[in-house]
Amino acid sequence: MVRSPEKSDKFSFGLWTVGWTGTDPFGVSTRPALDPWEYAAKLAEVGAWGVTFHDNDVYPFDASDADRERILRQFKDAVDAAGLTIEMVTTNTFSHPVFKDGGLTSNDRAVRRFGLRKILRAVDLAAELGAETFVMWGGREGAEYDGSKDLYAAFDRYKEGLDTVAGYVKDKGYGLRIALEPKPNEPRGDIFLPTVGHALALIAELEYGDIVGLNPEVGHEQMANLNYTHQLAQALWSGKLFHIDLNGQRGLKYDQDLVFGHGDLLSAFFTVDLLENGFAGNPDAPRYVGPKHFDYKPSRTEHMEGVWESAKACMQTYLLLAEKAKAFRADPRVVEALEYSGVTTLKQPTLDDGESLADFLATDDGFNAEKAAERDFGFVRLNQLAVEHLVG
Ligand code: GCO
Ligand code: MN
Ligand code: MN
Repeated sequence: MVRSPEKSDKFSFGLWTVGWTGTDPFGVSTRPALDPWEYAAKLAEVGAWGVTFHDNDVYPFDASDADRERILRQFKDAVDAAGLTIEMVTTNTFSHPVFKDGGLTSNDRAVRRFGLRKILRAVDLAAELGAETFVMWGGREGAEYDGSKDLYAAFDRYKEGLDTVAGYVKDKGYGLRIALEPKPNEPRGDIFLPTVGHALALIAELEYGDIVGLNPEVGHEQMANLNYTHQLAQALWSGKLFHIDLNGQRGLKYDQDLVFGHGDLLSAFFTVDLLENGFAGNPDAPRYVGPKHFDYKPSRTEHMEGVWESAKACMQTYLLLAEKAKAFRADPRVVEALEYSGVTTLKQPTLDDGESLADFLATDDGFNAEKAAERDFGFVRLNQLAVEHLVG
């Protein structure tokens, strides 16, 4: 048995996660929709600390200003009463048919202007509600057909859009950071910014990129056949890991959004190890201290009770893995295996301090390639120790 989640764990959930009623491309809802305040109250009850939402998870796309205010007030009151934190807000620029060719990169300029206004309005809301992160997932920014986009212009428009939003945040003096969420495909055939690496490259081209970082999602990186922990690590190493979307995915298929750990469990173990233990052996390296945010879908086979069970399962799996990752790092056999494997020596710079390239090239280290090639690294034993901690 693992302990119950506590506020200090900073577990948070998107309203659209527990709020998913089971509609998919092949079938209609299998569960009723509750009101946003009902989800908030229940999330707090099962142990969440935070809640996040798209603008239209709370109020309808076509809500009048008066309705928008009224609904937001009711939601905010419920969130406050439940003691929840609104840590992140985002914009829906993918559901309404107007966004079928994207929000920031639609070929239709009028749509782009509409999309940008909608995003800026959600930025105001995020700031007003005290959120720290503004996520931008460009799910409809992309194409099905290679000839359907002026690709050069598409990257220009993406940059223009992101810089406009980031510039607005700065101009207003909002304490928000923008987190881009990569995804390779679905709903578009190909989505721009398919992986963490692509997003990092675009951020480097932005004028206001200092407040723009990443919100990597487990399943999205795995849909691109990538190693999620490595993606988190590179974002963290770059000072760009602003937020995370935890869930589960089993291999290269549609975006499953399973409960955290219900996909690749060993990968989830090392993800939690990185989040909880940091870059082990590098005490001065950046750490992720943000919310542990779950972006999953309770399977459409489940009743409402199963929705809450699945939310609890996300948190419980995380806590179990956190315990195991601590025990893994503290195990003397692991410490020894890390030493044996040379993991602990990778941090030593390859060149000597102050060594000139001329000196370096002229120096004979007495290196013997045949001898060095004989080395055993013992990575399998190290990995088996992880497996033993995980399932032993
Ligand atoms: C997905 C995405 C979305 C985004 C969310 C934030 O599963 O394709 O995760 O759920 O995270 O829309 O904007
Ligand atoms: Mn997803
Ligand atoms: Mn997500």
